Amino acid sequence: MQFNRRDALKLGVVSAAALALPAERMARTKLSFANKLAVSSMPPPFTAPYVAPPVVNLTGDVTSVLTSDGKPFYRMVMSQFRQEIIPGLQTTVWGYDRSVPGPTVMCKRGVPVLMRHVNNLPSQHPQLGYRPWTSVHLHGSASLPQYDGYASDVASPGQYKDYQFPNTQQARTMWYHDHGVHRTASNVYTGLVAQYHIVDDLERSLPLPKGTDFEGKSYDQALTIQDATFGADGSLIYDDGDQSSLYGNVILVNGRPWPVMKVERRKYRFRILNASISRAYKLALSSGQPFIMIGTDGGLMPQRQFVRRYRHGMAERYEVVIDFSKYPIGERVVLQNLALRNNDGFEHTNKVMAFDVVSESSTSRNNGVPKLLNPGTEVMSLQESDASKQRSLTFRRSNGHWTINGRTWADVEASGFQDTVADPTLGEVEVWELSNPFGGWFHPVHIHLVDFRILSRNGLPPKPWELGPKDVVYVGEYETVRVAMRFGPYPGRYMVHCHNLVHEDHDMMHQFEIRRPDGSRGDDPIWADPPKDLPDPPP
Ligand code: C2O
Ligand code: CU
Ligand code: CU
Repeated sequence: MQFNRRDALKLGVVSAAALALPAERMARTKLSFANKLAVSSMPPPFTAPYVAPPVVNLTGDVTSVLTSDGKPFYRMVMSQFRQEIIPGLQTTVWGYDRSVPGPTVMCKRGVPVLMRHVNNLPSQHPQLGYRPWTSVHLHGSASLPQYDGYASDVASPGQYKDYQFPNTQQARTMWYHDHGVHRTASNVYTGLVAQYHIVDDLERSLPLPKGTDFEGKSYDQALTIQDATFGADGSLIYDDGDQSSLYGNVILVNGRPWPVMKVERRKYRFRILNASISRAYKLALSSGQPFIMIGTDGGLMPQRQFVRRYRHGMAERYEVVIDFSKYPIGERVVLQNLALRNNDGFEHTNKVMAFDVVSESSTSRNNGVPKLLNPGTEVMSLQESDASKQRSLTFRRSNGHWTINGRTWADVEASGFQDTVADPTLGEVEVWELSNPFGGWFHPVHIHLVDFRILSRNGLPPKPWELGPKDVVYVGEYETVRVAMRFGPYPGRYMVHCHNLVHEDHDMMHQFEIRRPDGSRGDDPIWADPPKDLPDPPP
């Protein structure tokens, strides 16, 4: 067997330190500041028209390609291309299917999908120069370990990997993004991010906004929010503040700076994903009207909640309904970003996008939000007393590293990917206490595979917008959050990490291993079904 970089990574030979030398980082930072796009050359907020990303509909009827065992098959290609983000300038990006964000994938509950992800990226990152390896994670999906985007299960340019996505969970807004070890932040920042929705009968039966408006635009919109900094030539500037955090001065929604959307006088549903690297948002409407919160990471909440402003950490998904029938035609409502601790602000980072009310509603159908949405799910009924075990995970910076209980992904690599921070038994419920003992940072903590219920934050009940199934929780400054979850449906090794992707890459990530009650182990995330070299065969 030939020993290449990929094998070296898998064996943990390449250490985090070797990947980014401090001198290299400093040189890069200086270079980027010199070329920054002037504020005067930036597009004024609310001038770019809103766009929705393309859709890949795999909900059944329209799927033309099936695998030999009858699953919908879709081949998606990661590549480098140029896209106009700042009007008049071209930005070199990496995207899925030549789009940033990538296409919104729609699947039906109960219909598994085989998705081939082809790494067709160039041999070098356009600014950072590294050779890209990728691992695709469907965030929010209960996938087998070898299809979960395990950070060290990487595909190099010229390789592809077939991912099996089971789509067994209730309707929800998920997202897929790159998870390649030590390169997640820059791979995502360069554009490898998109939404993925599961639809089901319960959700379809509710009169929530759906169908299309006067422009043919859906009443159910995916909003992916990111922040970025651009060079005078339109290039992306990656400045992670010496491996601490990345805060851009431009806010993008679906790849457009501060866009403006035309809406009718009626209700719209928005699936809001914060796909920023390090920025959290405190969202509110300029009119003071509350959002009608209907869904969280794991799908519909038991009950709708009215929320005037809420904290939206990285990787969290919140689904809100906004009722524009309250406004006269001609009114503009701005989605604002109020100040939030430990987030660097710039001139226009206090706003996200705007809605212009332009016409009456084309239809009175699907214009409601029932009080009860999805009561009685298993996860939202979990109690402290269901837990067979309690564990504590502490997220902190120590000796220049981001750590979990003092440990990092480097320890996982050094152990041949065996080391764990927790060893739950398949089917058991546990309570994890996640804490951030300091005031200098916040950490949105993500636990792979499971949905959890938030029991408390600093001993108090969860916030109203958190009363739904979650897979990421904002662990703010000096906060301790308790969450309850049942471990399953599969045994295996899965990651737990901070979703500030700069923290994750350097190296606030570890893993837990679920074993069956008899002690037997699940599939190996790296070796069970590794990426293959192109050319790829038909499904
Ligand atoms: Cu969205 Cu492990 O990540
Ligand atoms: Cu995830
Ligand atoms: Cu963090």
